[in-house]
Amino acid sequence: MTTAPVPNPILVVGSLNADLVIRTERIPGPGETVHGHDFTTMPGGKSANQAAAAGNLGARVTMIGAVGNDAHGTMLLRSLTAKGVDISGIHKFEDTPTGVAIITVEESGQNNIVIDAGTNGLIWPNTIVENRKLFEGVSVVCLCLEIPEVAVKAAAEEGQRHDATVILNLSPYAEVSPELIAATDIILVNEHECAQFLGGTAVPPPDAPNDAWLPVLDAFVEIGIPQAVITLGSDGSVVLDSTAEEKVHRIPARKVVAVDTTGTGDAFFGAFAFRIAQGDLIQTAAKYASVTASIAATRHGAQPSYPTAKEVAAIIAEDVALQPSEDA
Ligand code: RIB
Repeated sequence: MTTAPVPNPILVVGSLNADLVIRTERIPGPGETVHGHDFTTMPGGKSANQAAAAGNLGARVTMIGAVGNDAHGTMLLRSLTAKGVDISGIHKFEDTPTGVAIITVEESGQNNIVIDAGTNGLIWPNTIVENRKLFEGVSVVCLCLEIPEVAVKAAAEEGQRHDATVILNLSPYAEVSPELIAATDIILVNEHECAQFLGGTAVPPPDAPNDAWLPVLDAFVEIGIPQAVITLGSDGSVVLDSTAEEKVHRIPARKVVAVDTTGTGDAFFGAFAFRIAQGDLIQTAAKYASVTASIAATRHGAQPSYPTAKEVAAIIAEDVALQPSEDA
């Protein structure tokens, strides 16, 4: 009897939030009050979402993070466990509440998010040292900026010491240390984070030819990043790879009617990490991630919206344009 190959292990280090979500016709402006409906509390947090997305696709995922000893923490641990994520690296604090995100989602699917770190703010480099064993044998380490940067840097450096591919999502955007950049292999950003990170280098418009992205790649390389993925929402994504002959790949977006874009970037990241851990080329992984994120956008919430590998495969099977080609 043959068994399906087990993907290489993924380690996610970072945040868990309870998402307090309210739906409105439109997001209110400053000083404005609007009516909302269908208030719900759902599992979220960028890192937990990434772990859940990868786990739901069948990846072997472990997470390092922290929750409080409260109902939100219990909900988050249950959700990750249901998605197959190993939660042995998640610490429970007694006196600090679990992180929360207050989210408004309007009918177009767009959202506004404000986070209060709670226990996410208690992850420090010593947390990484205490969990060093969890880095053993890991092939991909996933990071974002919802925990203190010093802890992100310590995790990236530990990942590098273990020869893992370190992927950093610069979200929510903040300036990061040169040491964190030096320990990062692949940066994942949206177009706004890309513009903030690169400062003077303009991000080309969505309809620009591939060559227009070469100065962006040069800017990443100058900073010390060889590979980057820039997500462009409904305009798809761009893969920049200084190590390959073909340096720019455009990944078209699958057209869907979005009902909630909360956590779709995290779905992209989790799926991308899943495929990188399986040995895909970066552009092949991004193509798969793009389909995963497109499905998530058609469903409510972050973690509850994530598809299984079977659901992603069914969409890919329907559309030849989504199938991996020789070079991608
Ligand atoms: O990326 C979406 C996530 O951002 C939400 O789940 C929320 O918790 C915030 O972390």
